[in-house]
Amino acid sequence: MHDNHSRTARIVGLGTALPPKVLTNADFERMVETSDEWIVTRTGIRERHVVGPGESLATLAVEAGRKALADAQVAPEEVELCILATATPEQPIPATAAILQPQLGVKNAVCFDISAACSGFLYALQVARQFFSTGEVSTALVIGAETLSRYTDYTDRATCVLFGDGAGAVVLKAAEPGQGILRTAWHTDGSLADFICMPGGGSRFPPNVKEYIDARLPFIKMRGNETFKVAVRSLAEVCEEVLQAAGVRVEDIDLLVPHQANIRIIDAVASRLGVPPEKVFVNLHKVGNTSAASIPLALADARAEGKLNPGDLVLLAAFGGGLTWAATLLRW
Ligand code: ACO
Repeated sequence: MHDNHSRTARIVGLGTALPPKVLTNADFERMVETSDEWIVTRTGIRERHVVGPGESLATLAVEAGRKALADAQVAPEEVELCILATATPEQPIPATAAILQPQLGVKNAVCFDISAACSGFLYALQVARQFFSTGEVSTALVIGAETLSRYTDYTDRATCVLFGDGAGAVVLKAAEPGQGILRTAWHTDGSLADFICMPGGGSRFPPNVKEYIDARLPFIKMRGNETFKVAVRSLAEVCEEVLQAAGVRVEDIDLLVPHQANIRIIDAVASRLGVPPEKVFVNLHKVGNTSAASIPLALADARAEGKLNPGDLVLLAAFGGGLTWAATLLRW
């Protein structure tokens, strides 16, 4: 974890992309045995966006990245570092960030991907921050993008209603200590790797073997109920950890922007922390769980709704496959 005295980074631009196609709860009522009532009460989700023909991870990530650069009024050539967080890359080789580079025009940037599922965006922010602390870069682009629909098993009612596609990007510029990213806490517990996983599609069960496809291995699997309990505990703990390390009281937080997986997880975490509902940002009803895209999509919506103002103390918290979890405290 960083100390509070090193050079840091602050977000100077935001951009998002959502594919136009929307799947509503009514659509799922026609696909699996479920109901709008079950999905809304158990998850809070009403709609999610999914990619269609001709769309892919790169189309979403490029759109979000371009918008973030325009929002920041930063020229692509100024970007020295481009990190993409995703669990659903464009293709296994090369890294998707490299595929994005010419399309974004970030020709002077070193580009690579990070895989930490739903915590990917906060992991990527933390990695990017290291380069600011050492003084190696002054401008970076961090993108969280996901096309989970391409690996969602639409015969499994316990997972298919949860996931959506999208991308969110931020431009980071160097900042003095006390501005921008203040502190991050991040953790991994690989002993629980099978809680959220996609067993097929890698070198163990390659995507080009019919037997594995027939066994539905290249689809997301989740032990939802067990994941739920670990998510609530880990998110609350990591938020407390980062607040304590930064010497900030929970009542000083202006906005909590949690990973948008399940409204019951968000409510339970906020109540354990003692953050009142009006300080908790929620947009999962319209996007579902977009994994690495979740937090930047939420940040953009929060800003559009006037809930992010200069000087605000903002707490970001994420949890996902790995298992991974993280919290980042920043001054907006
Ligand atoms: N419609 C109707 N019934 C359903 C549905 C559905 N869509 N899905 C599950 N059920 C049923 C189950 O079959 C089960 O029925 P049974 O009692 O007859 O066996 C019942 O509902 C209860 O199932 P649970 O899994 O116990 O339901 P739960 O209340 O835990 O909700 C959920 C499930 C929404 C998945 C929840 O556990 C959850 O949100 N988990 C955490 C998700 C998360 O945070 N993931 C991390 C990020 S994901 C990533 O990293 C990519």
